[in-house]
Amino acid sequence: MSSNKLAFPKDFIWGAATASYQIEGAWDEDGKGESIWDRFSHTPGKVENGDTGDVACDHYRRWRDDIALVKELGLRAYRFSVAWPRILPDGRGEVNQTGLDFYSQLVDALLEVGIEPFITLYHWDLPQILQDEGGWPVRGIVDAFTEYADIVSRALGDRVQKWITLNEPWVSAFVGYSMGHHAPGHTNQDEAIAASHHLLLSHGRAVPVIRANCPEADVGITLNLSPQEPASPSVADRKASTWVDGYINRFYLDPLAGRGYPQDMVQSFGNPMEFVQPGDLDAISVPIDFLGINYYSRGIARSDEVSEEENEPRTVFRGDEVTEMDWEVYPKGLFNILGRLHFDYSFPDLYITENGAAFVDEVGPDGQVDDPARLSYIKRHLAMIHKAIQIGVPVLGYFVWSLLDNFEWAYGYSRRFGIVYVEFQSQQRTLKSSAKWYRKVMLENELEATA
Ligand code: FCB
Repeated sequence: MSSNKLAFPKDFIWGAATASYQIEGAWDEDGKGESIWDRFSHTPGKVENGDTGDVACDHYRRWRDDIALVKELGLRAYRFSVAWPRILPDGRGEVNQTGLDFYSQLVDALLEVGIEPFITLYHWDLPQILQDEGGWPVRGIVDAFTEYADIVSRALGDRVQKWITLNEPWVSAFVGYSMGHHAPGHTNQDEAIAASHHLLLSHGRAVPVIRANCPEADVGITLNLSPQEPASPSVADRKASTWVDGYINRFYLDPLAGRGYPQDMVQSFGNPMEFVQPGDLDAISVPIDFLGINYYSRGIARSDEVSEEENEPRTVFRGDEVTEMDWEVYPKGLFNILGRLHFDYSFPDLYITENGAAFVDEVGPDGQVDDPARLSYIKRHLAMIHKAIQIGVPVLGYFVWSLLDNFEWAYGYSRRFGIVYVEFQSQQRTLKSSAKWYRKVMLENELEATA
């Protein structure tokens, strides 16, 4: 190995990630129930361009081809999510065997070609019928989730060892119930805070259930983490930055780590959180086998961005290099957050369960899709992971977001995150140059040191 190569640990898990609603389509087929994202995207004005996930990448039908693609790419692992309403159309109770069989076949096919499945149980597509009962803000959801986790882990736990309970509970709670940009589109902060607690409690309750069904399981949760920095050293900006850090990071990390809810946030929310019952915090802080990190960018907080109506500091982004999402490209933030999780919080093993970038892609006259900006984004973040591993942070794997261009939530199909280009009319898949490069990195298990 020459010195300008960054070698990764021998067993490093190279992967790519997707989510059910973003790729599957077949929204009402084979007994699947309606999800909150079906309802939301079918409501005019909620998603850019009126896009829906009705067809998406048509993965529900094309999954065999997609696995062949994953194999061709040389991934060691594939992270996907299970659609709760496909398994339990009524949210609880009667199981839709066809739905379960779909994932069971997928798992078998992955294992057959030597790719390890990482299952996310909840990536935002709540059965609408449970939302009709109040959704995540209502405590009854916890039993429903535990039942769902039991059913899926019973069915697949003989073959799947890596389990992620929830994807980004902050986004489910606050973007869905407080900001209203995501399903179910509510704008009530108190609902979001209750949702947040019930999401965490659902995670805590599901962990022992999954372990009982699958004694070999490694179980974790995935958070969207974003280091926050003050725009200036002023006391006001530092306060604003501490607030955003509390909002996005500490409100999840602290209870999971057994530190309880951060009191500065509880006070600032002005919500007595009376829905927290004795024993809840112990359940939430059940030891996990790994923490999943979705990292995209950092935040920079400025006190003069405090909105008078909401009395909340806003995050501002800066830097010349931004993605199509207007998110700053800031690889060092990943290094910083990894260090904090290991050295300050002492979390166990870590996986980067998502990292990637949206850029405008064009199919060239030769049919190729050249995406140097995405390639460079991934490369520079991988270099930071390598650096973190060098100082002793146990990062076991990396999943690029995303395998395929897909339905990017409120942005519909207007933002492409895939390393594989999808032409949505014909559903043709084309490996972008980032995918070809990533294949080489995985194969060699090392990276060129220069950016
Ligand atoms: C994350 C989501 C994922 C995708 C990326 C861009 O917050 O988990 O589904 O939308 O952002």
